[in-house]
Amino acid sequence: MCENAGKTPAADQSPSGRRTPKASLGGPIGLRRPGPLCGQFDAAFDSPMPVIHVLNGPNLNLLGTREPATYGTVTLAQIEAQLQAKAKAKGVELTFRQSNTEGDLVNWIQEAGAKGEPVILNAGAYTHTSVAIHDAIRGSGAEVVEVHLSNVHAREAFRHHSFISSVAKGVILGFGPLSYELALDALTAGAPQKKS
Ligand code: DQA
Repeated sequence: MCENAGKTPAADQSPSGRRTPKASLGGPIGLRRPGPLCGQFDAAFDSPMPVIHVLNGPNLNLLGTREPATYGTVTLAQIEAQLQAKAKAKGVELTFRQSNTEGDLVNWIQEAGAKGEPVILNAGAYTHTSVAIHDAIRGSGAEVVEVHLSNVHAREAFRHHSFISSVAKGVILGFGPLSYELALDALTAGAPQKKS
């Protein structure tokens, strides 16, 4: 049964003034609040679409021209467009961000964790170096799916260790831009599809 059924929408009590109550994702992960994805159909709640954050780390802004033999020629903007279309069809709102700065990723992970909103994270090279990102995920309780375009285990030894995997719900790597789509599928599996 819908967790919001019969309830009166509460006043927004979030410090940021953003959505409360939130719709929950019904998939096997992204499941902090288990239950059906009912909010999107409930006009009484102000912005009922569940939110997923897609966070990209350093040098991913260069996709398209960066080491095409490893990362292909698809740009980050094209990955975003593809993912936004897929999310829309699923009735999910995506926030898609990129930064070359470690602290930005830490702040965004903390924000997502505080809101109980899942994260698809390609931390780029910070994957292999960042205790701060590990701690942000652990400390905020953010539900993270770690993604990589390339199969890091088939590459240099310094890419074989991830500080994120041990605090992630799951890891998807090696499928190019499809890695992001598979992560979105994983987070939304079990949620009802949006009716067109
Ligand atoms: C990457 C793999 C990392 O090792 C690298 O530093 C990146 C991209 C990937 O998506 O394959 O920047 O995260």
